[in-house]
Amino acid sequence: MSKSVVNQSSVDQSAIISRPTLDEIASLCKRRGFIYQTSEIYGGLANSYDFGPLGAQLLKNIRDLWWKRFIEQRADMVGIDSQILQHPETWVASGHVASFNDPLVEDTVTHKRYRADHLIEAWVKKHPEKQFVDRTLVVEDLTVEQMGGFIESNQILSPDGNPVSAPKAFNLLFETAIGSVADEKSKIYLRGETAQGIFANFKQILQSTRVQLPFGVGQVGKSFRNEVTTGQFIFRTLELEQAEIEYFFNPDQTDWQQLMIDWKEAMWQFVTADLGVNSQNLQWRQHTDTERSFYSKDTYDLDYRFPFGFKELWGVAYRTDYDLKQHQQHSGQDLTYRDPQTGITFLPHVIEPALGIGRALLMVLTESYWSDQAHHRLVLKLPAHLAPVQVAVFPLLKNRPELLEQARQVFHLCQLHFRTQWDDRGNIGKRYLYQDEIGTPLCVTVDFETLTNQTVTVRHRDTTQQERVAIDKLTDYCKKYTHQS
Ligand code: GAP
Repeated sequence: MSKSVVNQSSVDQSAIISRPTLDEIASLCKRRGFIYQTSEIYGGLANSYDFGPLGAQLLKNIRDLWWKRFIEQRADMVGIDSQILQHPETWVASGHVASFNDPLVEDTVTHKRYRADHLIEAWVKKHPEKQFVDRTLVVEDLTVEQMGGFIESNQILSPDGNPVSAPKAFNLLFETAIGSVADEKSKIYLRGETAQGIFANFKQILQSTRVQLPFGVGQVGKSFRNEVTTGQFIFRTLELEQAEIEYFFNPDQTDWQQLMIDWKEAMWQFVTADLGVNSQNLQWRQHTDTERSFYSKDTYDLDYRFPFGFKELWGVAYRTDYDLKQHQQHSGQDLTYRDPQTGITFLPHVIEPALGIGRALLMVLTESYWSDQAHHRLVLKLPAHLAPVQVAVFPLLKNRPELLEQARQVFHLCQLHFRTQWDDRGNIGKRYLYQDEIGTPLCVTVDFETLTNQTVTVRHRDTTQQERVAIDKLTDYCKKYTHQS
């Protein structure tokens, strides 16, 4: 039961105090076009969200940075892009068809569905008088049958106050059919994780590239899970974007424990240095023996302090050679690697860091949300290299052609280097408030002085301070505040 919590000694209270609620984040996201409810005009679709103009850009910025750090900037990594629809045997081999399950219960009156472990977790939280060894781990360690017993003996009810059915294992894979006849032969699944596309292409990657162990294969893409969940916004959705890496190695030559340490360090670095997260809002949690997937020898979750508590952002698991072995067996193909020095063939083992891009976005929004009481404004203090808009350009007045003309030139100049937005609506104060809320680090105003001396005002989001900058120095000036290596 090793529950490792990092950096607990000197807790920075500002990292914890004044955290936004999930409702506040969701409301800003909707108001400003980061995230909308899917199919809202039809009443919405459960656990599904669409990304609006700003959300799509922020998502892309996170995804691109992940790709740059883990694929482009590493000599030992390659990237692929496999299909959402794969041969159905893939999911039999991986074990998803048999055991990718959640414990499901149904309200016996409303017939609403809930996850048994979630009901138990909420009940445990509400009853601090009950003593458990470790209040979180107790729930995660229960089997479906044990959950049934727990619910019955403690008479746990649904959120609507009704009894619930006995929990049963519910498979999360989405099934569909190819062609017009939906029978066993045409059955196909939407992928439940991007990882299997990497294992299924392992042989082709070996044959077509010059990779040598140890090396990793990464990919970013949509996965689908028939999740039963309530009220956690984009934390757990039916359609999710994953950024996964399978890092292959020879267990006789590479110490998996050291590799695990190295990957944990790389993940931590990405979240703190690249995504700008305060390390006090992060913790490692090692899976217990019963919680861990049966094929994994060791698993850690990097948990983030979401508005509803510490929850998994990114997992890293030692999957051994389980997946390659399964695919070798089910496909009848040789998936071994031949060591170029010794000539020995074997199935490599893998360490798998698996991140949810949507969760990373929710984390970045949570971390950036700042209610600035001193200036009566709401600010998204996004890291400038991630901000959907990096520079906003304003003409001081909309009805003066000479200002508009000059401002357009500044806009076109900035557009060459930064994600730039033009804004001429309302007064300057309102424009600042809007740009603060969407996290724009720099606002550039073209005013009458610009016409006489070719300088503009640059206003900084976090301090609200303004500086006069010459137009011919403007891009260098803005680069100092927006670019990252
Ligand atoms: N291949 C391993 C794997 O898929 P996972 O822990 O099930 O592991 C990896 O998923 C990551 O994907 C999680 O850490 C989380 O960030 C994200 N994720 C998983 N299920 C999700 C869901 N329903 N909605 C949003 N993100 C999800």
